Amino acid sequence: MQAAVNVLKDCATEFGHRFEFAEFPFGGCAIDSTGAPLPAETLAACRASDAVLLGAVGGPRWDSLPVGRRPESGLLALRQELGLYINLRPIRPYPALRTLSPLTANRAGQVDFEIIRELAGDIYFGKHRVEADPSGERATDEAVYTTAEVERIAQYGFARAQARKKRLASVDKANVLATSQLWRRTVTRMAASHPDIHLDHLYVDNAAMQMVLAPAQFDVILTSNLFGDILSDLGAALAGSIGLIPSMSCGPGPSLYEPIHGSAPSLAGKDVASPVGQILSASMMLRESFGLAREATWIESALDRLFSSGVRTADIAEPGAAAVGCREFGERLHAEMLQTLQHHRQSQNA
Ligand code: IPM
Ligand code: MG
Repeated sequence: MQAAVNVLKDCATEFGHRFEFAEFPFGGCAIDSTGAPLPAETLAACRASDAVLLGAVGGPRWDSLPVGRRPESGLLALRQELGLYINLRPIRPYPALRTLSPLTANRAGQVDFEIIRELAGDIYFGKHRVEADPSGERATDEAVYTTAEVERIAQYGFARAQARKKRLASVDKANVLATSQLWRRTVTRMAASHPDIHLDHLYVDNAAMQMVLAPAQFDVILTSNLFGDILSDLGAALAGSIGLIPSMSCGPGPSLYEPIHGSAPSLAGKDVASPVGQILSASMMLRESFGLAREATWIESALDRLFSSGVRTADIAEPGAAAVGCREFGERLHAEMLQTLQHHRQSQNA
């Protein structure tokens, strides 16, 4: 988070912006200081902000707490309270990092898609129940979708496909689930008013296989909350590392930006974690919430060049190759970013 904030401060300094930062506890540290993963003050501050940049939360210290009081419940509550029903996860490997992908070089080069995950419904927010049973216990998780919930996320999916290669793959399990049948009916009906979008329906098991075997077919993948959770980890692996993927969540209020990786508690305090997912979440925030595309591109292209020149954090270094820590990676990126500006100014003056 510190590395991402530093990058935002660079944008402010170099491009004459003023960002107001306000920091609030959330997840594990909030449980420690207030007893709750999403304190009322944190939620109020998020609501009052133009955007939320979220750091990964959780760790073994809080894993034994009851489900409703763990860091993850804070994340679900925040999504729910902010009405965040859209979750966008771009999957695109860096050319210089293509060898990290478990796919063949040829297939890895074809990976370039977005996963749109519905974030406010499904089995995540249905009733969870555990009862007594003669054999021990009986557990139930309810999955619910309404027409309106499918329509609003599908609307976003069609719009996103429209802005890209006009290919939309809707992923469900309509051969088994009632929620998926509603999903498929709704998306199919909406396709009639989007004649220029090529729509495919895939069952989720097949979609997982196709992502690995023939990733080139995907442009925008539209799917439900649970399937999107699973497929986006798979997508991240195809792109080389889960540490490289940012995400955006949107609803009626401020959008929220977070890397899709977890908190990696075994790395805490060692200055070895990669800041890339967090930095890319910040640049996604600049582009999508603040309309600062030039600034976002400035960050992302410097990152590209850093990777091309061989700078690696431990998670993406080839075995035996040198790796820099989190802090040094941030410093190298800062230097690279300033160098582009100097180059730009020199060529303008020439
Ligand atoms: C994610 C995470 C969360 C989810 C967990 C931490 C609750 O896996 O954002 O993908 O399942 O949504
Ligand atoms: Mg996940």
